[in-house]
Amino acid sequence: MSYPYQITSLDAYKAAYKKSVENPDEFWADVADNFVWKRKWDKVLEWNFNEPKVEWFKGAQLNITENCLDRHLATKANIPALIWEPNDPDEHHRILTYKDLYNKVCQFGNVLRNNGVKKGDRVCIYMGMIPELAIAVLACARIGAIHSVVFGGFSAQSIADRLYDAQAEYIVTCDGAYRGNKDIPLKSVIDDALIGNRTIKKVIVSTRTRTPVSMLKGRDLWWEEEIKKVETLGMTECVPEVMDAEDPLFILYTSGSTGKPKGVVHACGGYMVWTNYTFVNTFQYTPGDIHFCTADIGWITGHSYIVYAPLSAGGTSLLFEGIPTFPDAGRFWDIIEKFRVNILYTAPTAIRSLMGFGIGPLQGKDLSSLKILGTVGEPINEEAWHWYDEHVGKKKCPIVDTWWQTETGGILISNLAGVTPAKPSWATLPMPGVQCILVDENGKEVTEFEDGVKKGNLCIKAPWPSILRTTYGDHERCKLNYFSTYENYYFTGDGAMQDEEGNFRITGRVDDVLNVSGHRIGTAEVENAINMHAGVVESAVVGYPHDIKGQGIYAYVIYGNMHGDESLTRKDILQTVTRVIGAIAKPDKIQFVTGLPKTRSGKIMRRILRKIAEGETENLGDTSTLLDPLIVDEIKNNRLQ
Ligand code: WT7
Repeated sequence: MSYPYQITSLDAYKAAYKKSVENPDEFWADVADNFVWKRKWDKVLEWNFNEPKVEWFKGAQLNITENCLDRHLATKANIPALIWEPNDPDEHHRILTYKDLYNKVCQFGNVLRNNGVKKGDRVCIYMGMIPELAIAVLACARIGAIHSVVFGGFSAQSIADRLYDAQAEYIVTCDGAYRGNKDIPLKSVIDDALIGNRTIKKVIVSTRTRTPVSMLKGRDLWWEEEIKKVETLGMTECVPEVMDAEDPLFILYTSGSTGKPKGVVHACGGYMVWTNYTFVNTFQYTPGDIHFCTADIGWITGHSYIVYAPLSAGGTSLLFEGIPTFPDAGRFWDIIEKFRVNILYTAPTAIRSLMGFGIGPLQGKDLSSLKILGTVGEPINEEAWHWYDEHVGKKKCPIVDTWWQTETGGILISNLAGVTPAKPSWATLPMPGVQCILVDENGKEVTEFEDGVKKGNLCIKAPWPSILRTTYGDHERCKLNYFSTYENYYFTGDGAMQDEEGNFRITGRVDDVLNVSGHRIGTAEVENAINMHAGVVESAVVGYPHDIKGQGIYAYVIYGNMHGDESLTRKDILQTVTRVIGAIAKPDKIQFVTGLPKTRSGKIMRRILRKIAEGETENLGDTSTLLDPLIVDEIKNNRLQ
């Protein structure tokens, strides 16, 4: 067996789970022994959820890139580490072997060092899905800099906010990015984000689209020229920085129920162990398998299951620059056929969108290499699950429904492919080390089954190795957000049910967070963006069920002095949201209203707005506590279909 900690039977899963709970120290020490450490830990785990303070592998030292790269060189130097498929199918793909990737990461690590980047410095990465993105991420890790990748769909304003919050001094970007038939001018967005900025010292620009870019003297540098410089200097080796297991590896911003995104911080040691462990077990990864995770590296899924886990496992990871529908809806299937992909890991929203094209695009495509399918990001409906099973997996591939979050670093609940039973639309069983509990509003454990299930808010009782350590620059906020709702538990923000066999089904967020096409967006964030538009007095944003996106965004807007065309005003508001957050946060529907349903204390009753958006106008519950109950009728009558 390539991975001594790979679980290959249901009994072995049960035994592993039992041991992980009864003796976590021994359990995780055994797993961690399979990695390269510069120094082993003094203590496996120390924690309390009160401060909160969680320390895994305390006293240990390592560099995650030695585990992702150096350690494979002896046996896998010429094995593909990354396969890159460009947006345009006519452009040639690239294959980077472990040796190639090692060399490139060292080179770019030296570029960063040569430009003054030191251990602990924050480097913002804003790039398209090209190998240089993975190289930049790993180069940061190599030299101990903390990367903060910002998804290429975010606006200049969002980048500026994140740069400020992370106190970043360096940026790595591209001239532009190709996505479908669009060219996205990334460097120009960065330029906008940097207007008035005084803290950014260097911007390193990798060439992809060669769209004209402005290069500011003394600040902006071309990636390719910087590589030449370190070559001329004779810098080839890049000595990995020695990191404490608890040193931060990266910051990744994510939305919460407040307006401001949070910088989730992950630590080197635990993140490495957990992502690798869950990768090897969930996908039953076997060396040689081609793993195709369709996420963007700008999200946690890409961090964990495109970059770190496949590489630390010595695997082959496929990185795709484009989108599933370009040049046509058969693109995923072409890629699977072309590279003989074995594992496909994608989002329910992508499956639903491809379902919409029928099975035509699948016909004649050889998908026989596929062994395992996975989904992530949102609940998968049964129809999409069966379509995936039948038309993509040809009923031969186990489907893993993996539930997790940016904050969890890696998969927490999922079946193990072909090892533990799948159940359509259920994420099923927790990973070893994950102690789930369902609680009611008052924090009391739910124990009663009703119709074979118990329902509640999903909490976790004890830390797993890649739990977030803090939210950058604001530990109180971390405590408040995740550890204060229910004392001594980590609160996920999700509602769930559990059946009598212990399987979990995640029903969705119970806080004010939306999940639109697998992208996480806070309602407060969208409201703040809408409210920035001149003329908007107030707004309230809720989610509603959307056939493809999972959830759509419904905005109720009070607009002062509407004169002229309502539909133009709507477009102006959308433009404002695009400017402030990015196109991903654009409301699908904007209804102009003259008031919002508020309680006497001024709180918006979102429950009512949600029901109206969902079309459930009949059963709005008790509206008698409203300041102005009549407003509900107005909103109901003008509801947008
Ligand atoms: C939220 C986290 C973790 C990778 C991508 C999303 C929802 C995630 C599932 C699933 C039902 C899921 C939850 C969670 N979610 N996976 N398999 N079934 N819901 O990461 O952006 O941090 O969002 O996505 O609501 O809280 P994220």
